[in-house]
Amino acid sequence: MKQVKWGILGCGKIASKFASDLQLVEGASRFAAASLDLKRAGAFASKFGFTNHFGSYEELVQSDVDIIYVATPHGFHFEHVKLCLQHGKSVLCEKAFTLNAKQLEYLIALAKEKNVFLMEAFWTKFLPHYRKTFDLIKQGAVGTIRTVSADFGFKSPEPKPQRLYDPRLGGGSLLDIGIYPVFLTLDLFGEPDQLTAVMNPYSTGVDEQIAISFSYKNGMVASLNSSFAVDTPVEATLNGTTGRIHLANRFHNPSSVVTIHREEKQPEELTVDKEDGFGYQYEARHVQYCLANGLKESPELPLSFSLRLMRLLDRIREACGIRYEADQSF
Ligand SMILES: NC(=O)c1ccc[n+]([C@@H]2O[C@H](COP(=O)([O-])OP(=O)(O)OC[C@H]3O[C@@H](n4cnc5c(N)ncnc54)[C@H](OP(=O)(O)O)[C@@H]3O)[C@@H](O)[C@H]2O)c1
Repeated sequence: MKQVKWGILGCGKIASKFASDLQLVEGASRFAAASLDLKRAGAFASKFGFTNHFGSYEELVQSDVDIIYVATPHGFHFEHVKLCLQHGKSVLCEKAFTLNAKQLEYLIALAKEKNVFLMEAFWTKFLPHYRKTFDLIKQGAVGTIRTVSADFGFKSPEPKPQRLYDPRLGGGSLLDIGIYPVFLTLDLFGEPDQLTAVMNPYSTGVDEQIAISFSYKNGMVASLNSSFAVDTPVEATLNGTTGRIHLANRFHNPSSVVTIHREEKQPEELTVDKEDGFGYQYEARHVQYCLANGLKESPELPLSFSLRLMRLLDRIREACGIRYEADQSF
């Protein structure tokens, strides 16, 4: 099997989990880790077995790396993905892909111009429990879904992490965690015909909490929320005309237990294969599959889907007045 040379851009928290899971991916060569701080890059590289380390992102994009995983705060995704693409490097970029749809449109056009692979690291899409839930709904296992509820909230620690609250870093609960309930609903049911959203701003102006409602002409409604103020169940329930499917805490994560409740039947727990690791190996394997087959985007998580998601997040922000500086310039 040809080895795929992975590079990590930004050695923070999620990069550590992803790098750890890369050890579970056949054919993944841990090629280089890049940080703004050379010492951090060195420590990260030795902890996770990367061959090279760099004290700047520029050195990584100029190296012989095959694919770069961008794991900086989402306020920097546009700048950092652009840097990679301009150097002809393939990219897997953490969610939220960008701050707004215009930034993403630009990156998609650039990836096409440079003829390189680009994908959003929406890991949930590739998790076994999520795929099975999706199949069940498509098969009509609980009839027609009429209501959806999903939440994602945690009480953020003190001192407050800058990444979560600073608008320049893309702070706010919607883009950080509210994106998961929105992703789930969009993936299963498409764009809502109508939406409403209300939020409580933090002192920096970004949303500390948000409550979102979707409605569809076919008679479905969804109730979604996210919060940095309180711990919430982090569950999703899909209520159908003949039963319901419940994804337990944390619904977006491989440890979630999925239960099907059918009318007049005992609840049934979905059986799902469990692997070691955090669950980021599934998306990494999929990226390698795409690269091995010369694909420039994922057939399972195409760029058109990521753009629809970003446009929907723009609509939600517009509805409740969440603005970033990037909305002016882009
Ligand atoms: N898929 C998931 O499950 C998941 C989970 C958590 C977070 N995320 C996403 O991953 C991204 C990073 O989140 P994280 O929690 O890993 O953040 P983090 O721990 O704060 O790490 C971000 C890294 O970005 C780099 N960076 C570059 N410029 C920066 C700046 N001006 N300020 C702060 N950091 C800067 C730093 O790395 P160097 O100093 O090493 O260059 C920093 O360690 C976010 O977009 C987030 O939404 C995804």
